[in-house]
Amino acid sequence: MRIQPLIQTAVFDVADWEVDAEFGVFPQGARAKDAVFAPNSPPEPVITPGKRYLFKRSKRSYPDQFWGEVVAYRVGCLLGLQVPPAFAAWNSRTGHCAALIEWFYNDNNEAFVMAGDFLQMMHKDFDRKYGTQHNLLDNMRLLRMLAIPKVLEPGWRQWWVDALLFDALIGNTDRHQDNWGFIFYSTEQAPRCRLAPLFDNGTSLGHERFTDRVSRWTEADYDHYLSKGTHHLKWSLSDPLQGHISLLQRALDEWPDTREAAGARMNFSFDELSDVVTDMPQLVATTPLTSERREFILRLLGSRLTLLKELFL
Ligand SMILES: Nc1ncnc2c1ncn2[C@@H]1O[C@H](COP(=O)(O)OP(=O)(O)OP(=O)(O)O)[C@@H](O)[C@H]1O
Ligand SMILES: [Mg+2]
Repeated sequence: MRIQPLIQTAVFDVADWEVDAEFGVFPQGARAKDAVFAPNSPPEPVITPGKRYLFKRSKRSYPDQFWGEVVAYRVGCLLGLQVPPAFAAWNSRTGHCAALIEWFYNDNNEAFVMAGDFLQMMHKDFDRKYGTQHNLLDNMRLLRMLAIPKVLEPGWRQWWVDALLFDALIGNTDRHQDNWGFIFYSTEQAPRCRLAPLFDNGTSLGHERFTDRVSRWTEADYDHYLSKGTHHLKWSLSDPLQGHISLLQRALDEWPDTREAAGARMNFSFDELSDVVTDMPQLVATTPLTSERREFILRLLGSRLTLLKELFL
């Protein structure tokens, strides 16, 4: 089930990579980003020649946030989930560090549609800015609408349970309506689509906590932090936001057939999870992953893994 992650040996410098003028400063989303094309002779084999990548910087207040995308990619691989490959990168001309994320569809013959585009058609007053109405029951209506006429490939229930499992492990609070979606492609009969890989995973892993403060946290502070995190998605329009684990539990109760496959994804130990970040301090960047940040990430991941394993006992 596990996916072998693509691992870089050094931080990539994109200063001489061609910028995609069509995308420029990417319009959608909260973080500064560019689209760039990999050179025909990439620095390492993990980079696909000529392919488009997103150079996605951190939010200004959290300069090391981009590391979260790289960690999340590797955690996704451990779970056997489709997450776009993410690497640590910088631009030696501007000094900016960022996550370099592989483009997840082929824009010659595929098109990406954010779930929010559909949800807004279903609810004219959908709050696109904050996604306050984003809820699983409406998502289900949308997914069924596409799955019943066989436009959408099968397996969307498992996809959502797996997504909730991934988000619970990394503590992602931002899986809003525009952070998941559909990749459309044409076939001889009719257009078809599949769910896109799990992208935009950086609002997670405690990135918004400063390590000098965290160093004073007690066991109770950790417990408090872990228990108060919520998923972005509500169960229904009228439900309140829920903790990651309880939302996952509810989805598992709703779709018991998804339980076995989801539980089997966690067939790794804490040591194997720790290995995910072992090489990162050697990746020298102007904004490094400090050992304090790495330890904090590992502590959160370890606690969440324990809670998730208990859920599947
Ligand atoms: N790897 C990728 N390949 C292709 N398109 C992508 C990729 N990653 C992101 N996008 C597109 O770019 C948009 C913005 O990217 P992303 O969601 O990662 O950034 P963001 O600024 O963090 O957004 P948000 O405001 O949701 O936090 C996405 O909604 C998606 O349409
Ligand atoms: Mg986004």
